[in-house]
Amino acid sequence: MQNRLEELRKMLDRIVIGNEPDKICMYASHMYGVSKFCTLLAEKRNLNAELATTCGMLHDIGYMAGGSSDNHAIEGAKRAETLLKEMKAYNDNEIKIITNAIANHSDKRSIHDEYDELLKDADVMDHCFYNNDFSIAEWEFDRYNNLLIEFGINLIK
Ligand SMILES: [Fe+2]
Ligand SMILES: [Fe+2]
Repeated sequence: MQNRLEELRKMLDRIVIGNEPDKICMYASHMYGVSKFCTLLAEKRNLNAELATTCGMLHDIGYMAGGSSDNHAIEGAKRAETLLKEMKAYNDNEIKIITNAIANHSDKRSIHDEYDELLKDADVMDHCFYNNDFSIAEWEFDRYNNLLIEFGINLIK
């Protein structure tokens, strides 16, 4: 396998978008937006950028691949585990890091492991930087402000 992320990207484009180009805007912009913020945060926090990017790409597969948005974090973690095992390119420890982050990503008010926190923060960044005119959701407010501080951005709302 040449590059795990590119292999995964091809699979996700097939699973999530398929023959429905509307889903590029609906889903792919968030999937890849979050994955890029994951990369940035991993570089900033000295974590493994490839694993972090993978977390972002897969984090909403629970609803993007056809499931319900209710409980999509837990369901998505199971789906991601199956997909990553099928790829045979990730070891058990890597799969555990990725699936734990996905399972915990909806719980924005709690603090979990470093990859879980990175994924939650990247999700918040993609929501909050989507349109600066939109107000920040109450449950994302503290994370958003902490991220501005982390990046030295003086734009506290
Ligand atoms: Fe989500
Ligand atoms: Fe998300």
